[in-house]
Amino acid sequence: MELVRNVFFVGFMGAGKSTVARKVARSCGVASLDMDKYIERSCGRTIPEIFDEGGEETFRRIETDTLRELCGKDGGMLISCGGGIVKSEENRQLLRDGGVVVHLMVDADEAAARISDKSSRPLFNDIESARSLCAERRPLYEEVADFTVFTGDKDLRDISREVRRYLSQEGVICQQQG
Ligand code: S3P
Repeated sequence: MELVRNVFFVGFMGAGKSTVARKVARSCGVASLDMDKYIERSCGRTIPEIFDEGGEETFRRIETDTLRELCGKDGGMLISCGGGIVKSEENRQLLRDGGVVVHLMVDADEAAARISDKSSRPLFNDIESARSLCAERRPLYEEVADFTVFTGDKDLRDISREVRRYLSQEGVICQQQG
């Protein structure tokens, strides 16, 4: 199969973006990329280390530069983004212009249950602040989303199938030419 455009997965921490991107990629034989992992590799530091050393501001600058770089590459990829990618208008514009955006909608309580290692998420503190951050971000995810999946208690395999069906219907994933 071939991916004709980039597909960006957005949603709150713990929504399952990386796993779903990977599963869809495997089932279609296309490439996927986890933006946070890509940032960690290119900076030689973990996300918590980047936050510790330069604060959120530094991380956001790197995140925007990375998004711009990925948008400029030819060929489609399934890209899972960090949960805060939608914070800036600049990023939202890059996402809208850069491909198809899939929002995996999750609520903070479900997300908390899914995240096993909260120490790897500097912005996931207590459940109260996660709930308000999640509520604050939801309209931003929706603003950029072409397709929203309500993840609820669905398993990640079903979510991946739903995404794959949508991408096929829209002609974003198609049979390779030639
Ligand atoms: C963040 C989410 C994280 C990571 C960073 C900031 C956020 O990614 O980019 O810790 O602001 O919501 P995940 O959504 O993959 O956990």
